[in-house]
Amino acid sequence: MNETILIVGSGAREHAIATALARSPLQPKLVCFSGARNPGILALCSAYGVGSITDPAAVTGYAREQRATMAVIGPEAPLAAGVADALWAAKIPAVGPTQSLARIESSKSFARDLLTKYKIPGNPFFQRFDSLDGLEEVLALYANRHVIKDDGLAGGKGVKVCGDHLLCMKDSLEFCRELFVHGHPFIVEEKIEGEEFSLMSFCDGATLRHMPAVQDHKRAYEGDKGPNTGGMGTYTDVAHKLPFLADADIAMAQEINQRVAAALAEECGAPYQGVLYGGFMASRDGVKLIEYNARFGDPESLNLLTLLKSDFAAICRSIVDRTLADVSVQFAAEASVCKYVVPEGYPDNPRKGDAVLLPGELPEGAAMFLSAVDVKDNVLIATGSRTIAIVGTGATIDDAEAVCERVAQQIPGPFFHRADIGTRPTIARRVEHMKVVRSA
Ligand code: AMP
Ligand code: GLY
Repeated sequence: MNETILIVGSGAREHAIATALARSPLQPKLVCFSGARNPGILALCSAYGVGSITDPAAVTGYAREQRATMAVIGPEAPLAAGVADALWAAKIPAVGPTQSLARIESSKSFARDLLTKYKIPGNPFFQRFDSLDGLEEVLALYANRHVIKDDGLAGGKGVKVCGDHLLCMKDSLEFCRELFVHGHPFIVEEKIEGEEFSLMSFCDGATLRHMPAVQDHKRAYEGDKGPNTGGMGTYTDVAHKLPFLADADIAMAQEINQRVAAALAEECGAPYQGVLYGGFMASRDGVKLIEYNARFGDPESLNLLTLLKSDFAAICRSIVDRTLADVSVQFAAEASVCKYVVPEGYPDNPRKGDAVLLPGELPEGAAMFLSAVDVKDNVLIATGSRTIAIVGTGATIDDAEAVCERVAQQIPGPFFHRADIGTRPTIARRVEHMKVVRSA
């Protein structure tokens, strides 16, 4: 079958998706629909439509016009808006769950309640609030060790953590009041101590194929300082483990994903077809769930799609046909390090409009993905969010980091990146932290 695959979205994640699809021996025709033109994706596509990706009719209309035989949806917003539902209704199968199934990401209480209802381990204490009734008692019970979350999608800005953003009870009460006044239900949950990792699985509704574990770095500055971001960089290890994780932690995370996929099928009466992304914390009491995402992580997917040896177009086809059990999913036995180059001032007050000069030729083992960029008067410019992602791969994390860092340093201008991601001292700190947490 000659596939025409529609990619929805235009960040570095979608550039990595397009790159992996373009490597397929099936040689699919690629088309993209998004709110912005990413020149990296454009170069791989035979058509590129610009419009609102959260408008199911607009996406479906473009898919029809391009005679797409399948769609791959990158970001969460179109999933929550029901774009997959509209595509399936138009007989265009989609990699990415329907609106009801995407609640695993769009509603944090849906995810927590699902674990409780189906007796899946991993939940910390949590309580959802529609009003401020009983709030003070719960906050007092978990004084100095709670997290407050907006129950809906808030682009990473709806979560405040004790010790980080909430320094006293007054801060917590104020944040809850603010959410309540704006009509946002919220969750108070126990703060878990440990190290975070992402475990993503391809899922066709019944079969899961797990990807290697990845660790992201959310803070903007070196040493894990500064504001939270969408993710400044990620790494994976050669054996597809992580230096601070026990095998049992990975097995537990895989089991939770497996059971969540089964619970979703039962709860929603429909198969979850896409990428199921568990955000976990390895803690003293085993693996705990931080959140679920209904899509590929960004930057996690940049590492993983670069390492993926199997045919990604065939994997996507098997997800929509529900034949993932028949398909092999292999990742190169290499380590990888990804770093985002971002504008000065990112994330709170980023510079916009600066020219981006790309390195001429990439060294062996390096890949580059464009993110928040645009082309004006033939010049590539940064539009204010994460700009370029560099992925290095190698026989060890050290090798992968060296390749990645060499390229990241070649990007001139008012940009910065975290040189410490994937370095020995940073990883040693994670391992040490986990030792302390486990022995507490
Ligand atoms: P989320 O949007 O749920 O991923 O939360 C954003 C960040 O808040 C996570 O990446 C964690 O660093 C932190 N966080 C969320 N929930 C918890 C929790 N229960 N315990 C500790 N940290 C948390
Ligand atoms: N890297 C975090 C995310 O994709 O949500």
